[in-house]
Order: sequence, then C-alpha cells, then structure tokens
Amino acid sequence: MAKVELLIHLAVTVTCLTISCHSLSVQPEQIHLSYGDDATKMAVTWSTPDPTNDSFVEYGINGFSQVVMGRMIKFVDGGTGAVVRYIHKAVMTALKPGAKYVYHCGSPQYGWSEVFYFTNRLEDANWSPRIALFGDMGNINAQSLPRLQKDAEMGMYDAILHVGDFAYDMDSDNGSIGDQFMKQVQPIASILPYMTCPGNHEERYNFSHYKNRFMMPGDEDGHSMFYSFDLGPVHFISVSTEFYFYVQYGILQLFRQYEWLKSDLAAANKNRDKRPWIITFGHRPMYCSNNDHDDCTRYESLVRVGIPFIEIGGLEKIFYENGVDVMFWAHEHSYERLYPVFNRKVYNGSITDPYLNPKAPVHIITGSAGCQENHDGFIPDPRPWSAFRSDDYGYTRMTVINATHLYLEQVSDDKGGQIIDKMMLVKERHGSYS
Ligand SMILES: [Fe+2]
Repeated sequence: MAKVELLIHLAVTVTCLTISCHSLSVQPEQIHLSYGDDATKMAVTWSTPDPTNDSFVEYGINGFSQVVMGRMIKFVDGGTGAVVRYIHKAVMTALKPGAKYVYHCGSPQYGWSEVFYFTNRLEDANWSPRIALFGDMGNINAQSLPRLQKDAEMGMYDAILHVGDFAYDMDSDNGSIGDQFMKQVQPIASILPYMTCPGNHEERYNFSHYKNRFMMPGDEDGHSMFYSFDLGPVHFISVSTEFYFYVQYGILQLFRQYEWLKSDLAAANKNRDKRPWIITFGHRPMYCSNNDHDDCTRYESLVRVGIPFIEIGGLEKIFYENGVDVMFWAHEHSYERLYPVFNRKVYNGSITDPYLNPKAPVHIITGSAGCQENHDGFIPDPRPWSAFRSDDYGYTRMTVINATHLYLEQVSDDKGGQIIDKMMLVKERHGSYS
C-alpha cells in the first residue's frame, strides 16, 4: 500500500507541475456500481470533464482500509462537437459476502466523491435477491425515478436491471444528455449495482456511449454487449437485441453472441442444482400486443426467429431448448405479462394456474419507466398469449424467493405506486422444455 501511495504522489506531483490542478474540473460525477465477475468484486464507474491521470476507489467495512487503482478512458463523443469526457473504471476486489461497505472514488490529489454505501451480494445460492426492473427511462418524463429512488434508499432491492434505452439519448447534445442521465440515476446506481443491456436509443456511433459509460461483468478490458452473472439461485443473461437491427456494425456480432449463448446456457444448465433459475433480459421483445408495428408485432419477429428465410440466430428456440424460465424485455412503453408461450402457442402449467410448472418460458415486457416518447398503445384484442397489459407508467419488482418460487409485481406510477399486477411462478423442475 505504501508503495502504491508513493507512486500516486509522484504521478500527481509531476502532473501538477505541468498543469494547474485547481483550474481543472475533476470532481467525480455520474458514479455507479455494477457487479464484477464474481461475488468478491464490484465495479465502480465515474466521469470527470477533465483528466485526473489517476483513478482510485478507497473502500472497506470499517473505513477505507482497502484501495484499488482503476483506469481512465478518454472518451470522445462521435458528434460534431467531438466533446471529450473522461470515464474512470475500477473494480473493488476481496469483498466479503453480505458485508456492508463504504466507498468513495476519485484521487487523493484531485479530490474524492462523496461517500456511498452498498451491501455486497452473497455467494451462496440460498438467498432471495430482490430486483427492480424497467426499461426506456429518459431524462425527461422519468416517471418511475422518484419512487425507484425512494425504494432503493429504503433498502428494498439488491440490484437494478435497466433493460435498454437510456436518457433519450445518451449521445444527444454532444453527450450532455447522457451526463445528465447518469447524474439523475446516481442516487440509485451508487448504492445498488445498475445492470444494463443496450437498446435502440444507444445506437449512435456503434453504441459508443453505452460501451464507455457502463462496465458489465466480463467487460473489464473490452466493450461487451452481452454477458451473464449469478445472483442467489439465478443465472442472469443479458443480450443485445440490437445486433438484429443495426447490421451495419457487423452481422458477425449476432453470430458471436449466439455462439456465446450456446456455451453460457450449456454451462448454466450443468449448474442448475446450485442455481436453478435462468433469467434473460434484452431490449426488444419477441412478442407484444402493441399497435406500433414494431418487430414484436410481426408474425415472425427477428429476435424470435432470427435472420429472415435462413432463420439463424433467433432466440426463442435456444431459450426454449435450454429451459430459460423468464425473459424480460422492454422497448414497448408499456407493461405486458404473457402466458407461458413457445412458437406462438400457449403452454400453461395447468387450467387453474398457468404459472405452476409451465411448459414454456414466461415473457414480461417492462418498458414503461417514462421518457419523452410517452406511452405505447395496444391493439384492441389481446393475443391468446397476452395475460395482462397496462400502459401505466411503472416498473417491475421481482423477488426470487427460493429454488421453486419467483414472485413478480408491477408498480403503477399513474396510480400512486399501487400494485396493478402480480405473478407467482412456481417451478418444481427446471430444465429444457423440449
Ligand atoms: Fe427501444
């Protein structure tokens, strides 16, 4: 440690001899957490308008007894202004399961952030993670944000899943809209892991804002658009549905994701005794009963069946064959719960309870946290697989109670936080449906 501090001191001294530290805008901002590669790690990402040359996180259970050095990325926005901002990424290591940590980030010479606290996840599969899920939340009209913030500060969640479409858009106004958004979510994202997947609103400059502003598991050295992580009894998989639509950035990415999915799902299935649930999240749904002519309204959606005519790379079959339990989607600015479905056919568990040992995955669309594009409407007559739908602003709460029971509820912001939908999914056996 003493050696590290000496090196920091030397680096800072040299820097301050050449530039005036006091004239720089180097206060850490937009601070957010995300899960690391395993339960002993937690990533911290933050931003500074000017460079600091060093990026540190000090943390510990009782005071700042541990320190890690991160890296600073010079991120140049692809717009006409070519605005430069500095993104700092560090991974806290040697975390104890279930322990409450204090941390701050920044630099001993350039300044530290305020202090934040988080509780590290348990490694154990025998606990009940509580998660808030939503998509499509912007700077303007972020209807769910105040309630989500209050929930988070009251300790109601272990993690947040933002299922694509941030800020509207992060690249707008040379990236200042992205800066504002990351500041808006900091009260939540600095105390809970803020887990993400890319949406269509992140498309500009080959998803550069998404890739630079977030750091997801397995992404310490790269810009991955898909990843997985374990949390209690769940194996979560985050996918990019955008590969199907923005092929100008390389169709190979779609196939690379598909090959990765095969191996990740195979490994997850071997581990189902320990982590029985497999839950996926991606931005654009395979099914929906909205009236906006999006991909999910089509008979053969791209995400569901893959590349037209050759039908390669579709997600429905591989998720069905590998026994995915629940798929979360967003993109539609509404909420929709589906009956268990495969290939457009309903496979309910029983006549009295569709969600008791269902014979196909359950889809949930939760894209109504609020943005400047407001709501998406529905077709008048729901499809046979549509169990419940609402265009109220809101978000989803999930508790994975144990190996057999998973509880979901939908919060309506339009109705003052009322629960407008509930589901208890019971699976006494997990695995392939085919
Ligand atoms: Fe979208």
